[in-house]
Amino acid sequence: MIEKKGIEEVFDQFLSMIEDTEIKKKVVDAWILGCKRGGWQNIEELKQMPFTLLTDCKGINFLEHTLAVTEGAFQLAKAQEKHYSSIPYKIDYDMLVAGGLLHDVGKLLEIGKNDKGEFVKSRSGKCARHPISGAILAAEVGLPEEIVNIIACHSKEGDGRPQMLETVFVHQADFATFNPLVMIAKDTLIKKR
Ligand SMILES: [Fe+2]
Repeated sequence: MIEKKGIEEVFDQFLSMIEDTEIKKKVVDAWILGCKRGGWQNIEELKQMPFTLLTDCKGINFLEHTLAVTEGAFQLAKAQEKHYSSIPYKIDYDMLVAGGLLHDVGKLLEIGKNDKGEFVKSRSGKCARHPISGAILAAEVGLPEEIVNIIACHSKEGDGRPQMLETVFVHQADFATFNPLVMIAKDTLIKKR
């Protein structure tokens, strides 16, 4: 069974950046609830899990992706703060980091294993894609609606919808990790000679 300690170890670098202790605790709660519902037994399984079933992940796993997106969203925000002499919006770093860590938490339900041990779309995933199941997990553990918005609207479900500023950063960081893999698969990624 995946417990608090295991999740805290994986996300330690980013959890320590969340100042609000309630938010920090609930981020871990949402991950533990997702692992329990999805039937994931240990962290090693999550390290084997591809971060998407939509294209070949080239070995990039679910936890690596979550860390890369969280850091990417954080650095997008920092870059603007560093270079803009005035910034017309306020970035909430607790929301941003929590949203990054949780944006794909619904994949714990969306992805499962078949009889052969292969990662496949689960029955739950057929009922609701990860932005929906992840938003429900976050709401169930009592996270604020703003973080629900990040999870629910980080993907195509959020296109054209009202979004938090932090949703925009997580979305862009997420697609910066996803699009190159899709482009490799479609042979539309131009390589240097
Ligand atoms: Fe993602």
